[in-house]
Amino acid sequence: MVDRTLSRPELLRRLATTRSELSRTSLLRRLRTIEAVSGAHVWIDGRRLLNFASNDYLGLAQHPALREALVVAAERWGVGATAAHLLGGHREEHALLEEALARWTGRERALLFSDGWMANLGVVSALLDRDDVCVQDKLNHASLLDAARLAGCDLKRYPHADCEAAARQLDARPDAATLLASDGVFSMDGDVAPLRELASLCADRRATLMIDDAHGLGVLGHEGAGSVAEAGLAQADVPILMATLGKAIGVAGAFVAGSAALIDGLVQAARTFVYSTAMPPALAAAARAAVDVARFEGWRRDRLAQLIVHFRAGARTGGLALADSRTPIQPVIVGESAAALAVSARLEDAGFYVPAVRPPTVPEGKARLRVTLSALHAESDVERLLAALKTALA
Ligand SMILES: Cc1ncc(COP(=O)(O)O)c(C=O)c1O
Repeated sequence: MVDRTLSRPELLRRLATTRSELSRTSLLRRLRTIEAVSGAHVWIDGRRLLNFASNDYLGLAQHPALREALVVAAERWGVGATAAHLLGGHREEHALLEEALARWTGRERALLFSDGWMANLGVVSALLDRDDVCVQDKLNHASLLDAARLAGCDLKRYPHADCEAAARQLDARPDAATLLASDGVFSMDGDVAPLRELASLCADRRATLMIDDAHGLGVLGHEGAGSVAEAGLAQADVPILMATLGKAIGVAGAFVAGSAALIDGLVQAARTFVYSTAMPPALAAAARAAVDVARFEGWRRDRLAQLIVHFRAGARTGGLALADSRTPIQPVIVGESAAALAVSARLEDAGFYVPAVRPPTVPEGKARLRVTLSALHAESDVERLLAALKTALA
């Protein structure tokens, strides 16, 4: 018998209330289904749209070499890894991919995780306890910020890219074991962190530096080795390097790279590594094929660089406000969420897929169109987008 005098809140009803509040404030997220994909185009609601929202910066997700590696490995290994890495799930494909990633990033070893969230959570909670400090940029990806919250450590945030404020946060507790964690390329703004300054802050104050290079790997640096390589920083400067395999690499998954001591330690202590099924071996094979393409098909990065220059030059000529970004992430800040949604809808009517990104993903009043460029785009695609943006923003 239900006791009708109980005042316990009903969880699903609360969720529904939150949802209607989000709807009222133009913050409701909408799940769209992509019906087909071909090159830079996607099909949504039966319409063919030019996609400017993908993180497939080098255009590898549909590359024949990756498809073939995936199919061949699936024939050999089947589909699932069937177990966690430590309990029989760690196949030769995983070991070979880890070696390839360590070589590429100039690190001693690498360790695979099922995705970037799990990698960040695994590292931060393996390293930090309640008495420790985690200093982070305010615009870091949610997975890094939440990892520190879940680790239960003292999370100290500093204003975006402000190294003096970061130094003050480090100095606030000089005796505490401290990790400073930053995105390499900021996912919603496209700018690159002040990596050399952060490395020297950490070296001077004996803090450990961790860089999440989800959006830098494949895109920046010699052979696409990432923002950390581009900044000339070695393993000693950035002892913990994390990156994902679902963006420029075009597959899925993530890895952490660093010293043998770091990796051996994570194998014991990173709970998201220990207690999670290994990624399907065929995905590891596809990711290894992607590493070769990303490293050695340099024309993809050259093409991307040309597109970025083209977009920025066209935007300037057209009087469009640009963010301070030299990467494929070129946000167009609109301001209010309702306005960003309206611009996105007008772009969709004109044949472009550029979803609006709103709070809490970005700060209040900074809703935007997160335009991303890919080596799959042609210069004429960029020109058409710029023309459509000008009309949609008018
Ligand atoms: C900077 C950054 N870190 C981590 C992640 C999480 O990676 P994944 O999508 O593999 O969980 C993302 C992905 O959106 C990201 O942008």
